[in-house]
Amino acid sequence: MSIRAMEPVRPEVRSLEPYVPGKPVEELERELHISGAIKLASNENPLGPSPLAIEAMAEAIRGVNRYPDGSSYYLREALSEFWGIPIEQIAVGSGSNDLIDVLCRIHLGPGDEAVMSDPAFVMFAIAVRVAGGKLVRVPGRELFHDPDAMLAAVNERTRLVYFSNPDNPTGTMVPRRALDRYFDRVPDHVLTILDEAYFEYVTDPEYPNGLDYLRKGKRVAVLRTFSKIYALAGLRVGYGFFSPELTSLVHRVRLPFNATSVGQAAARASLRDRAQVERSRAVNEAGKKLLFSELPGLGLTLTPTWANFVLARFPGSAVEAARKLERLGIIVRPVTSFGLPPEYARISAGTRAELERLLDGLRRIL
Ligand SMILES: Cc1ncc(COP(=O)(O)O)c(C=O)c1O
Repeated sequence: MSIRAMEPVRPEVRSLEPYVPGKPVEELERELHISGAIKLASNENPLGPSPLAIEAMAEAIRGVNRYPDGSSYYLREALSEFWGIPIEQIAVGSGSNDLIDVLCRIHLGPGDEAVMSDPAFVMFAIAVRVAGGKLVRVPGRELFHDPDAMLAAVNERTRLVYFSNPDNPTGTMVPRRALDRYFDRVPDHVLTILDEAYFEYVTDPEYPNGLDYLRKGKRVAVLRTFSKIYALAGLRVGYGFFSPELTSLVHRVRLPFNATSVGQAAARASLRDRAQVERSRAVNEAGKKLLFSELPGLGLTLTPTWANFVLARFPGSAVEAARKLERLGIIVRPVTSFGLPPEYARISAGTRAELERLLDGLRRIL
């Protein structure tokens, strides 16, 4: 929809491109009059939520005539016990997207700068511009963040530096050594956001835990989510760890009741189900192994990944390939909206059955 030229809105909002989500299964089925479509487009957990979460949701749903606990106290208490971080340093959001937005609104005004890699998770770019800040994009190196170059882009106007680690849409990771070096040198007036949405999926011992930097007193915000390995994307529950001072600011700026009662209950129950996390990690590892063994033979080049998806370079247009796959009821995600060329698409590590269907589809269309 075009914005009328005379609409009295801020220019930075007028020029925004909307966030492009992966196409929902229902939408594709409606469009093509098909059923049984599969979605490998939004880095979701194909196993579904923990049975403990489903039970907790069923119980919580009876109480939705009441507003939720506005501070998500019991969820924060559970997170505090789980991670060993005081409750005064934890805030919950309507997904971690919400907290990205809140952090930008807290820190950025006209003339303030925010640094991010290119490519990286586009929600940060949108939030910076909506807040009125200036976005400074630093080209990655072969689809990896380049922390030294990001640091070189920091100046006295920089307020935020954002790392998605692992990154979306690339799946790549900044290792501990590089992040240690970054934190040794980043000036004090900068808050670093470590967006660790895929934290629980990473098995590499070189992967840094953002909480270690927080415990050392670094100026850092660590964001996590229940949308990925905990399989609660539809409920919108994310959380973050901050200094006590920043946590208090987040509570002032976030919307009241930003996490639903059903979401809070499901998230608390999910934390108790370690077996579900282990199962999800195992399915993800097996899925990635299958993709890495089969896709190169079909002419696709894969970026190394530490997350629950793989960024694939197609031999031709991935936009076109995705359209053809959709006709077979398979949804993958071209990533032109992340600023990558049309040859790239992101594919979630689904179940074995889903990936077999994808491979079969690719064999037919390529
Ligand atoms: C790096 C990254 N951060 C944050 C999010 C948003 O997660 P949430 O569902 O918690 O808002 C995503 C979702 O894909 C992501 O890839």
